[in-house]
Amino acid sequence: MGVVSSAVPVRTLLLAATILLASAELSSGATRHYKFDITLRNVTRLCKTKSIVTVNGEFPGPKIVAREGDRLVVKVVNHVENNITIHWHGIRQLRSGWADGPEHITQCAIQTRRSYVYNFTLAGQRGTFWWHAHASWLRATVYGALVILPKPGVPYPFPKPYKEVPIIFGEWFNADPEAVIAQALQTGAGPNVSDAYTINGLPGRLYNCSGKDTFKLKVKPGKTYLLRLINAALNDELFFSIANHTVTVVETDANYVKPFDADTVLVTPGQSTNVLLHAKPTFPNATFLFAARPYATGQGTFDNTTTAGVLEYRNPIGFGSTKLPLLRPALPSLNDTAYATNFASNLRSLADARYPANVPRTVDRRFYFTVGLGADPCPANQTCQGPNGTKFAASINNVSFAFPSTALLQAHYLARSYGVYTTDFPNNPPSPFNYTGTAPNNTFVSHGTKVVVLPFNTSVEVVLQGTSILGAENHPMHLHGHNFYVVGTGFGNYDPMNDPPKFNLVDPVEKNTVGVPAGGWLAIRFLADNPGAWLMHCHIDVHLSWGLRMAWLVNDGALPTQKLPPPPSDLPRC
Ligand code: C2O
Repeated sequence: MGVVSSAVPVRTLLLAATILLASAELSSGATRHYKFDITLRNVTRLCKTKSIVTVNGEFPGPKIVAREGDRLVVKVVNHVENNITIHWHGIRQLRSGWADGPEHITQCAIQTRRSYVYNFTLAGQRGTFWWHAHASWLRATVYGALVILPKPGVPYPFPKPYKEVPIIFGEWFNADPEAVIAQALQTGAGPNVSDAYTINGLPGRLYNCSGKDTFKLKVKPGKTYLLRLINAALNDELFFSIANHTVTVVETDANYVKPFDADTVLVTPGQSTNVLLHAKPTFPNATFLFAARPYATGQGTFDNTTTAGVLEYRNPIGFGSTKLPLLRPALPSLNDTAYATNFASNLRSLADARYPANVPRTVDRRFYFTVGLGADPCPANQTCQGPNGTKFAASINNVSFAFPSTALLQAHYLARSYGVYTTDFPNNPPSPFNYTGTAPNNTFVSHGTKVVVLPFNTSVEVVLQGTSILGAENHPMHLHGHNFYVVGTGFGNYDPMNDPPKFNLVDPVEKNTVGVPAGGWLAIRFLADNPGAWLMHCHIDVHLSWGLRMAWLVNDGALPTQKLPPPPSDLPRC
C-alpha cells in the first residue's frame, strides 16, 4: 500500500525562494511526490463483495491537493493483470504531453509489474480537476479528485468558504466493468447498465443494503461550503440537487464563471463544477437529502436509479441525537432537455481584468465535425445484437478512430507516421445529410487512425454537430491538452451563414468538456499552443469504446520554449 497519501505529500519546497520573492505570483512552487500502487481490493456495495482495481487500495482513490505552480511527480506501479494508464483530467500538460496518459495516444499502457513516473507542472491553472485511469473501462473504480489551490495569497473571486468538500459521482457495476464492455464489443449490443450511482464511492440510502453506505455532509448553520462536484460516472450525465437549498455556481472545469444560483446542477461525465452551499442561518430542525440521477437523451436503456447523501446540520447540542424530518430534493425529469439547455446557457466566463476570456477573435482553421452513433456490419458466422443485427459503433465525421499499435505521440515525435497514422482526418462530413433529421439508410462507419495536424499557435474553430443516427443523444466532448471556449450552440443543423454572427466572443465559458446538445450543435474555439498529440473524445465511455474519438497533432513552434521535450526514459513502450 502506498505510504504517500494525499494528506502528506513529500515536499521539496523552495521555502527560501518563496519568502524572498516579493510577489507570490512569481514564486516557483513545491514539488509533490506521490506513489500510486495499482492494486486489487475487495469492496462491498449493494450487499455484494467483489474485487476491484484501485489506487493504494482506496476507493475512490487518493485526493491530491496542490497549488498552482507546483510540480507533481507521481510514480504509478502496476500490481494488477490489467494494462493501465493514468490521465490528469483538465491539466493542460503544457510541454509535458508525455504525462497526459491516454493509452495509445501519449504512451503505451503500463503493463503488469511495470511502472511509469508522471511528471508535470500545474501551470496557470487552479480549481477542481480529477485523475482517472485512461485504459478500457478501468476508470470505473480508478479515479480521484485533484484540487489545485490558487497561489499563496491569491483569493478566490468569491467569498472564502468555511470548508471545501469534494463530491465525486461514480457509477457502480455489480459485474466486472471490464467484462461488461468486452461483452458489449463482442455482441455489438449496448453494454449492460450499472447497478448504482455513487457519491464519494457510496451509493446511499435509496439503494438496498446501503443505509450505512451513505455519504454525510455535516454543516454548521450560517457557514458557506464549497462543494467540488466531479462527474466520474462512466456513461451518464447527472442532475444534482439538495433539498431546500439553492447553490451558487462559481466555477466549471476549473475556470471561474459569473456566479449564478441553481436548484439543480447538471454535470456531464468528465466535467467538474464548483458550487457554494449556503447553510441556513439557524438550525433548521430538519435533515436534507442531496441526490443525483441521470439526464438521459439516448434511445438505449440506462441506469435510472438515484444516489443520495445526507446534509446534516449541527444542532445546539451537536450532530444527530434527535429524530428530524428528512426532506428530499425535487430533481428534473430524466429527459428534461429544457433544464439542461438553460443551465448550460447560464455558464459565462468571468471575463474581467484578472481572469480574462482569451477567446480567439480570428480563426485560422475551421472544422465541421459530426459526432454520433453508427454501426459496423456483423462479421460472418456471428449473430450480432446491435441495431438490426449489426454492431454499434460511433464516429466523428464518420471515422471511428482505430487506436494505433504504437503511441501516436511517439510516432509523431520521431516523425515516423508510416503504418501508425494518416493526416487525412476529414475537415467536414464526408457525405453531407440532414444530420438531425431522418437518418440515412446506410449508417456504417469507416475506420482509421486519422489525425489533424496543426501548426503551433493555430487558432481553431470546431463546430460539433450531433447526429440523429440511432438516436440523437447528448455527447460530452472532451479535449486533451487545451481548454476551449464555447462560442455558440443551437438545436438542429448548424447554419454557417446565420449562426456565426450570434457567437459570444465576449464572455463565453471556458471548459475542457462540454455536452453537445442532443439533436443540436455546439461551436468551440481554442488556440493550439501546446505541442503534442491530443485526444478529443466523447467522455461517455461506451461511445469512446465505440470509436467516438480523434486526435490533433500540434507541431512544435520555432522557439525553444515552444517545443515538446524528448520522452522520459521510463515511458512505457509497446
Ligand atoms: Cu477524462 Cu480522455 O479523459
